[in-house]
Amino acid sequence: MDDRPVGVPVSPDVLRARLASELQAAPLAPEQVIDELVSAVDPGLVASAGPRYFGFVTGQALPAARAADMLAAVWDQNAFSYASSPAAAVVEEVAERWVLDVLGLPATASVGFVTGASMANATCLAAARNVVLGRLGWDAARDGLIGAPALRVLASGEAHATIHGALRFIGLGAGSAELVDVTPQGALDVERLTLDGPAIVCAQAGNVNTGAIDDLALLAEKCRAAGAWLHVDGAFGLWAAASPALRQLVAGAELADSWATDAHKWLNVPYDSGLAIVADRVAHRSAMGLSAAYLIESEHRQNYDYTPEASRRARGFAVYAALRSLGRSGLAQLIDRCCAHARLFATLLSEGGLEVLNDVTLNQVLVAASPEQIARVQEDGTCWLGGTVWRGRSAMRISVSGYGTTEDDVRRSAAAILRATV
Ligand SMILES: Cc1ncc(COP(=O)(O)O)c(C=O)c1O
Repeated sequence: MDDRPVGVPVSPDVLRARLASELQAAPLAPEQVIDELVSAVDPGLVASAGPRYFGFVTGQALPAARAADMLAAVWDQNAFSYASSPAAAVVEEVAERWVLDVLGLPATASVGFVTGASMANATCLAAARNVVLGRLGWDAARDGLIGAPALRVLASGEAHATIHGALRFIGLGAGSAELVDVTPQGALDVERLTLDGPAIVCAQAGNVNTGAIDDLALLAEKCRAAGAWLHVDGAFGLWAAASPALRQLVAGAELADSWATDAHKWLNVPYDSGLAIVADRVAHRSAMGLSAAYLIESEHRQNYDYTPEASRRARGFAVYAALRSLGRSGLAQLIDRCCAHARLFATLLSEGGLEVLNDVTLNQVLVAASPEQIARVQEDGTCWLGGTVWRGRSAMRISVSGYGTTEDDVRRSAAAILRATV
């Protein structure tokens, strides 16, 4: 992983030609299937599990989390319910408690182990929709949305695309959110938010371009006064709470009503692993749960009450293993180290003549670059990063989210970026 080119471009035709194109009639030995698969896909594998992949917001997979996730497949547990896997149910119960603890969220909140922050946003916003419509005198869980009163949804002008996707998915419509102006770093400008009654407000902890975090304490105060539900999309930024040095960036997060975050980003758990967290456990269950539909009375925490799916992979094993292997101090060091590496990137690249476009307060670094320059960095293969547009300017986005990235990796990568761009 240290040595292979991180993500050199490959054409889909090359990959298609290496795979079997027609399904044969007869069975094949499993060893043959796997040997073939491994050699066929190799040129298309991105070294995102390695230390110099800085694309999107991609964590590596901690050894313990990776092994626990492999066991989830080997044990083939159905994490649907207590009966289908007591082990999966109780591991998620413990992981729920630990996640709330390290994120500084209320111990009474509930956590659904979902596929990622996209589905965490959808899960949390479904609970928000039902509660806020309830305040307006409408039972959305029973009666749906046809004929429901108008529901105001406000989101940061810099909300992640998956917030609008989640609103579409839960029947409110991708265009339903009123967009609130943002600060120059891309945080919601709280002064520009006006509330006149029950509504859903979608805040953000961690702008995917700049890492900026909204003023959550002030937002919570405004929402509480208006009877509005505050949802925080903290796919990666919420993990700042696990670092004593950075915790103040998310001060007030604990006052929100729901939070979406990922384990597969900054907690360094393998894909797919997101966390849908709702302060009001009853609201979470009445939006997602199956207990009511199945008339199940149970003394156990039932996983199916907190996720959109019934049968699913036992995602809690890897979350439990990641937290257990890091401990509080290891988790804080992981977060701090990534942020220190992001600052080092910014220093090295600006000393080398590139323009850093954001205040590097978290793990994201935004650097002015043309699409051609970004393509040259990708082709070089020393590291991989993606492109974006920030305030009308083309930029490369460097996200440092993996436990294994060293200072040497940052220096090697910065040198490669400078060679390819300056
Ligand atoms: C702020 C934010 N929200 C949501 C998402 C979507 O997360 P996922 O891809 O895990 O569904 C991302 C992904 O980068 C993100 O940065």
